[in-house]
Amino acid sequence: RKDLPTYKAEQVEQHNAPDKRIWVTFGLGVYDVTEFAENHPGGDKIMMAAGSAIDPFWAIYQQHNTLEVLELLESFRIGNLEGVTVANTDEELGSPWAQEPKRHALLKPASKRPFNAEPPIGLLAEKFYTPNELFYVRNHLPVPVLAPEEYELEIDAGGGEQKEPLTLTLAQIKALPKHTVTAAIMCGGNRRSEMTSIKAVKGLSWGAGAVGNAKWSGARLCDLLREQGVQPNESMHVIFEGADLDPTSHPYGASIPLSKALDPRGDVILAYEMNDNPLTRDHGYPIRVIVPGTVGARNVKWLTRIVVADHESDSHWQQNDYKGFSPSTDWDTVDFGKADAIQAMPVTSAICTPLPGERVKVNPQDGYITVRGYAWSGGGRKILRVDLTGDAGQTWHVAELEQEDAPDGRHYGWSLWTARLPITKDQQEQEQVEIWAKAVDSAYNVQPEKFEHIWNLRGVLANAYHKVKVKLA
Ligand code: HEM
Ligand code: MTE
Repeated sequence: RKDLPTYKAEQVEQHNAPDKRIWVTFGLGVYDVTEFAENHPGGDKIMMAAGSAIDPFWAIYQQHNTLEVLELLESFRIGNLEGVTVANTDEELGSPWAQEPKRHALLKPASKRPFNAEPPIGLLAEKFYTPNELFYVRNHLPVPVLAPEEYELEIDAGGGEQKEPLTLTLAQIKALPKHTVTAAIMCGGNRRSEMTSIKAVKGLSWGAGAVGNAKWSGARLCDLLREQGVQPNESMHVIFEGADLDPTSHPYGASIPLSKALDPRGDVILAYEMNDNPLTRDHGYPIRVIVPGTVGARNVKWLTRIVVADHESDSHWQQNDYKGFSPSTDWDTVDFGKADAIQAMPVTSAICTPLPGERVKVNPQDGYITVRGYAWSGGGRKILRVDLTGDAGQTWHVAELEQEDAPDGRHYGWSLWTARLPITKDQQEQEQVEIWAKAVDSAYNVQPEKFEHIWNLRGVLANAYHKVKVKLA
């Protein structure tokens, strides 16, 4: 469509309401869907994409992927999108933020620099594999620029009888046997905002969307380490370093126990693909380590160096962050040296629809409402059950699960769930109900009821029952 004009993403962004006209993009096409929007069979959901890309939504709502719908869309074509992938302004050239990638408008930042954002949780439980553009982003530093042909990964298997450090190019990593694993990644601070409502904590205010589930592919770390002569040792660690540097030139870093890295059932991989596509820059292009079942912080992006050592990573994020404490520990008494770094995450769940405060229609035939969400546990523990209550725990209703058929101990993906909750006459009359959800994992670990008893000053491990109050119609 060379005959059509070219528009910048910023121009498209301005057309995000009927009075400013509604433009969207799909691939490199720009479309004006103002008149169509009123008649859209999917209703006003279309407005979520106003001024931005529809691609990630159509990855969720697959009924669009037909020739008829594509032809319909093409009839609204008004131009082409300038293929710019970096979001910067002229003044920023030379600053560490000049090369930040462009992000989908739906990722609403909790902080812009570094970029931290989660998708609207109403979308999260719609699809088992979270579309890459809508996957939460948690960056501590500017996103590094790594040219694929210059990329190198150093693997230092330790001194002694072991071999010299190994250096691998991207092509060499891709030439190794390809291993695929479904794994959810969850930030240690997911659901922090609920913990904050008990008492203030230090940290970004995450909702329940700092989690995503993807199919990751790459080379197995255990194979590489074994080939380098690394032997099992319960007291050793594997340290990962990223290419993102802090102002004192220290890289982002984290470590995991060597036993997890060497275990073939640990499924630790040097990933170059996310949901069958190359990693995006925000998610670690060209290589990140995926440590399934382990807190997001150890899944180091833009991986440049792996070291087998007799100590954990000495980075700030391993030593002085991402650790849990008693509710009575405060900033005067805290000693980060005395607590263990978070590795496997505890069992959790969240209600994704309906949203808090939403008006929900009770099914007139049977008097039920439908509730959907996700559940996940760390350490490869499978979700066995998700229980819902609408009457503060007097009666519980078991949700139906959608999950991968992976063995327990190696069940790293999340589970989506749907529950039908009966509404009582009383609740109907009061026109409201508070829904609670709790998940049970394969060790029969269950979420704690209240945040009061798990509160901690950093607001991590926020896994109490998810409670959502909705209005009834
Ligand atoms: C359904 C077109 C954007 C969500 C449909 C259908 C069409 C359509 C033709 C009917 C498909 C069928 O059942 O055969 C479009 C076009 C869009 C657009 C041209 C261009 C902007 C979106 C977006 C979303 C969305 C951005 C979500 C965020 C839905 C949903 C349905 C639907 C949920 C199913 C409705 C139902 O079956 O009840 N759309 N759509 N659409 N669309 Fe879209
Ligand atoms: N790796 C590097 N190099 N730099 C980072 O800032 N953030 C970590 C981890 N890996 C981070 C990193 C944290 S705290 C989380 S929760 C996950 O990446 C987030 O991964 P995502 O942005 O792909 O969702």
